[in-house]
Amino acid sequence: MISQQEFFARRQRLLAQCEPNSVCLIPAATLVTRSRDTEYTFRQNSDFWYLTGFNEPDTWLLLSNHERHGGSFVAMVCQPKDKNSEIWHGRRLGAEDALGRFDLDEAYELDELPEVLMHWLMGHTHVYFGQGQNTAADALVNAAMQSLRTAPKEYSAPKAMVDIQPTLHEMRLFKSASEVAVMKAACQISASAHRRAMQFARAGVFEYQLEAELHHEFAMAGARSPAYSTIVGSGDNACILHYTENTKALAEHELVLIDAGAEFMGYAADITRTFPVSGTFSKPQKDIYNLVLKAQQKALDMLAPGVTLRSVTERVIETLTEGLVALKLLPGTVAQNLETEGWRQFFMHGLGHFIGLDVHDVGDYRMDGEDRPLQPGMVLTVEPGLYIAPDAPVDEQYQGIGVRIEDNVVVTATGIDILTNDVPKTVPEIEALLQR
Ligand code: GLY
Ligand code: MN
Ligand code: MN
Repeated sequence: MISQQEFFARRQRLLAQCEPNSVCLIPAATLVTRSRDTEYTFRQNSDFWYLTGFNEPDTWLLLSNHERHGGSFVAMVCQPKDKNSEIWHGRRLGAEDALGRFDLDEAYELDELPEVLMHWLMGHTHVYFGQGQNTAADALVNAAMQSLRTAPKEYSAPKAMVDIQPTLHEMRLFKSASEVAVMKAACQISASAHRRAMQFARAGVFEYQLEAELHHEFAMAGARSPAYSTIVGSGDNACILHYTENTKALAEHELVLIDAGAEFMGYAADITRTFPVSGTFSKPQKDIYNLVLKAQQKALDMLAPGVTLRSVTERVIETLTEGLVALKLLPGTVAQNLETEGWRQFFMHGLGHFIGLDVHDVGDYRMDGEDRPLQPGMVLTVEPGLYIAPDAPVDEQYQGIGVRIEDNVVVTATGIDILTNDVPKTVPEIEALLQR
């Protein structure tokens, strides 16, 4: 649980990092049409959620550090209370109740938004805003700026528009203890969903039925939604990196790759496991699987504060290349294949990414043109894979095998904690669960 005090403290920390006399404008997400007059389930904008924990659409958070307010003034523009709308579409908090709930200095209703924006911008020197994320919000902010620029002389428009994202996203990159606890819960829920799907798998079951098992387990544990579209790829579908059709029936001799994670209290988990439908890995499947596992273990052993993701990736690529050469999947020597990047045809994505409120989370991987060393509080995925296309120029026993193994880790003061240890990962562990 993230407390109201933590949300409050985040807003204060953001304000403290802005230039003096700045205003920050953070719009919430809006509903998106799914078909005709129905909408996708609402998902709050991650930046807005990070600063408020408020799940209503079309709201705005406004922050000012102007000296006339003693350096901190916080307001929200809320959907108005509306009996008819609430009967049809659901409850609204309303401006009045928002005041107390979020400890605001001021709350307004949505129909006042254009005037509110103009008044808020007036007399400030800098506006912090994430231009380009939301066209409607961009238009509102631009209109308010333009009205001020063309208004009588006593009105003054801010001199500078600053992208709010670098400051805010640097904050989001470092997870607090309570965020790590929520992410750990998201990972545990996702881990039990993977175990459930593994146990349900058998020949003839459809990929989407494994997806249903995963989503059932998510919801029963309090996570209503997956954090991204669930991938269940059996056979050579595992070689399609973002395969989400999930329409094929599993066959006895195949591997299944499941990449699925729950979203819990806004935070994502992102786990991949690969296992045999029959309950037993064949020799070539085991060869590829153990190579990916070895590469992942190498990465997990190296990850620590001060280490760069690039240096770990380089060691992972060496490990994979050594294995691919030994299995004769790559002709030539290890050195030649590192030189020509021969491994790229079988490992075509990155080793991992930051994860948080977004599955591919915000935060800069490079700073001042250099790869950035890992620091405590960063949470990331570690996900090497090998994908041998069905038409790859290799021994046919390996064709169509796709394996990815993905875990989530938090960087600590001394190393890492693995948040996703509750799903079997070695060949004997997986076979034991499947054969139970
Ligand atoms: N599930 C997408 C990824 O692993 O990055
Ligand atoms: Mn994934
Ligand atoms: Mn991932």
